[in-house]
Amino acid sequence: MNRAADLAGCEAIRDWLTQRCGIHYPQHKTDLLRQRLTRVQRAFTLNDLGEMARRLNSEANHDLQLAVMHAASTNHTYFFRETEVLEAFRTKVLPTLAARDEIRIWSAACSTGDEAYTLAIMVAETLGFAALKRLHILGTDISAPVIQQAEAAVFSEQRLDRIPPDLRRRYFDSVGIAQYRIKAELRAACTFRQMNLKTMPYPFRKTFQAVFCRNILYYFERHDQTATLNAIYDVTEPGGWLTTSVTENIRDLPTRWIPTDNGIYRKASA
Ligand SMILES: C[S@@+](CC[C@H](N)C(=O)[O-])C[C@H]1O[C@@H](n2cnc3c(N)ncnc32)[C@H](O)[C@@H]1O
Repeated sequence: MNRAADLAGCEAIRDWLTQRCGIHYPQHKTDLLRQRLTRVQRAFTLNDLGEMARRLNSEANHDLQLAVMHAASTNHTYFFRETEVLEAFRTKVLPTLAARDEIRIWSAACSTGDEAYTLAIMVAETLGFAALKRLHILGTDISAPVIQQAEAAVFSEQRLDRIPPDLRRRYFDSVGIAQYRIKAELRAACTFRQMNLKTMPYPFRKTFQAVFCRNILYYFERHDQTATLNAIYDVTEPGGWLTTSVTENIRDLPTRWIPTDNGIYRKASA
């Protein structure tokens, strides 16, 4: 391994991640970045991070690009994350969508789909099981492996520990030892696609009534946070809603989103 090339490579990949994916690794997280990249380096039998940077920048090496994006992103997620903001969504937003012929929700940066399926369960519980037929939830993420897991919709028992037992019984089928699959009606309401939030404008034919963009913005630099929120605004219908994490304060950013509740924002009506 060439030590100088390795160090320079790490810096080049840090820049590549910021420019290409919006994922920002500050200097104090260099060890974490290096650890994650070293795993990819071994898997692709590369000499050092210098070689990795060269390949990322000079070749259309899609597999390597996907592996680096996946390794660098934190996919941590779980069902019914931040119940407080979900409860606000259930009581304030869902009633405004109840009479719609189509309910279109986007879970942007959905990881393994826990958020999308949580929303499907909430719609079924709040608007009735039949509402699933009108429900279209799109989950997108930059990482291909998590999209595959979301599509498979199989979760270990441990992953369901925040879901009340009656909801588990209603919305999951047992499919093996301590393995559960989301029921077909909920799966039918959810579609998953790989997508980079940095690639704008977003390519949707129809606008969404509600978008969830949670626990992703804090990996982005300020200008990417603003650009992402504005691009989401453009694909949200007038009067539509944005839900963020309560830990991500977007009020200081120059966007047109109107704060309503903690973590809930609204687009102005036309
Ligand atoms: C911490 S998870 C959040 C999952 C879920 N939204 C939640 O709140 O539980 C962040 C996700 O963002 C994805 N991600 C990172 N950069 C991205 C980008 N530029 N475009 C789309 N997804 C991205 C990661 O792959 C990861 O799955």
